[in-house]
Amino acid sequence: MPVLRIKGGTPLRGEIYASGAKNAVLPMTAASVLINGRVTLTNCPRIADAETSAEIIKALGGCAEFDKNMLTIDCSGLNLTRIPQRLCEKMRSSITFCGPLLARFGCVGFYEPGGCVLGKRPIDLHIKGFKAMGAEVIEERGKITLKGSLKGVKINLPFPSVGATQSLMAAACLAKGTTVITNPSKEPETLALADFLNLCGGKISFYENKVEIEGVNRLHSAQARVIPDRIEAATYLCAAAATKGEITIKGITISELGIIGDVLKKTGCILTEEHNAVFLKAPQRLNAVDGLTTAPYPGFPTDLQPQICALLSLAQGKSVVTETVFEARNRHIPELIKTGAEITEKNRSFIINGVNSLKGAKLTAFDLRGGAALVIAALAAEGTSEIHNPHHIFRGYEGLIQKITSLGGNIEIL
Ligand code: EPZ
Repeated sequence: MPVLRIKGGTPLRGEIYASGAKNAVLPMTAASVLINGRVTLTNCPRIADAETSAEIIKALGGCAEFDKNMLTIDCSGLNLTRIPQRLCEKMRSSITFCGPLLARFGCVGFYEPGGCVLGKRPIDLHIKGFKAMGAEVIEERGKITLKGSLKGVKINLPFPSVGATQSLMAAACLAKGTTVITNPSKEPETLALADFLNLCGGKISFYENKVEIEGVNRLHSAQARVIPDRIEAATYLCAAAATKGEITIKGITISELGIIGDVLKKTGCILTEEHNAVFLKAPQRLNAVDGLTTAPYPGFPTDLQPQICALLSLAQGKSVVTETVFEARNRHIPELIKTGAEITEKNRSFIINGVNSLKGAKLTAFDLRGGAALVIAALAAEGTSEIHNPHHIFRGYEGLIQKITSLGGNIEIL
C-alpha cells in the first residue's frame, strides 16, 4: 500500500495555483445529467472524486472525457438510471446525481453514498425533499429507488445541507412549477452550481434565506469554469503558516477565502492580495485562537477544521476549536497527538495547548481533510513522518506532491 513520506522542518516558499474546487465540480458534473447535450467544464481539478463522477456518467450511458483540466460531458445518450453500488460507495457526492436523474427520467436507483466517515451522514433531507416534490420512495436491501414526475413545492431544510440543497435545486430546474427551498446552503460551491444551471437555461434565484427555482421544460448546453478551491488554497496557506514560510497562491482572492483569511490573520499571518493571487507570510510564532467554531457558510468551514487544529498545535497559548457540523470529525486528533501536539477533546471541542515544535511520526489518514491536517503537521515537524492511506488525501488535492515539492517541501510517495 502506498505511503507518503515527508521530511519536515523546511519553511514553504514560492508560488502555486489554486485548483478548481472539488465541491463545485462534483455537483456541476452531476447536474450535467439534466442537459440533453454537451457541457464543458474548464479549470476542472484532476482528482479521484472528479474521475469517479465521470465514471458514473459513463456507467449510465453518457460520455465524460478529460482533456487535462477540461471535462467534456455529453448526456444525450444517457439511458440508464441506476447508479452502480460500487460507485455510490466511493464518494458522498454520488447522492447529488439522484435529483438530476429523477428530474430528467422520472426514476433513479442508487445506494447509500460512501465518502469520508465523519459521523452518521444520513440522506433523510434529500429523500424528504424528493417525496415532497412527488417522488415515490422504495427501499429494499440497501437499494433505493425514486419514481415519479416532480412538481414545484415549498421545502424547508432544518439544516442548510449542502448536498440536499444542491440535489433538490438541480431537480427543481425541470419540475413542473416553482420550488422554494428555505434555509438553503449558501456555500460558494452551491451558488456556483446555481450559476452553472442558470447558464444552461435554469431559473434559480437566491434571496436572504431561500432559493426559488422556476421549473423549465429543458436545459441546454453550456461551458462553465469551475471556481477556485478555497479549502485547497487554505490548506496550503496553513502549511506555509505552520512551517514559518511565505507563499503565494494564484487564481484566488482574499474575499473568496472569506472568514478563513480573517482567522489566518488572527494567528499573526500577514495576508495580502495582488492580481488575483493571495500572499501569506507566517509570523515567527503563531498566536492561539480561542473560540473558533465551525458552521455553515459564511461561518468557519468544517472542511478546514482538521487543518486549523494542526496549525494551532504550534501556536503560543491555548486555542479552542469546536466542530458543530459533523458529530465525529475527530479522527485526526489522535494522529496529531502522535506528532507531539497537546490536544484534549471535550464534547465536540478540541482544546489545543500550543507547543514549540512537533516531531515526525508514523501516521494514518482516515479521511480527506484529516489526512491534509497530517500533511501540515508532518511538514512542520522535526524529522521524518509517514502517512498511511494517502488515497484519502488524493481524493481532494490535485497535484499534492508536485505542489508541495515546488514550494520546497520534502515529500515523496513510497
Ligand atoms: C458537503 O457534504 C461537502 N461535500 C463536505 O465536504 C462538507 O464538509 C459538507 O458539505 C459541509 O460543508 C461535497 O460537497 C462533496 P451536508 P454534505 O449535507 O453535502 C447532516 C470535504 O472534505 N445531514 O451539508 O454531505 C449531515 O449528517 C467534504 O470536501 C443530515 O442530517 O454535507 C451533517 O451533519 C467532507 N441529513 C450536516 O447535515 C441529510 O440528508 C452537514 O451535511 C444531509 C445532511
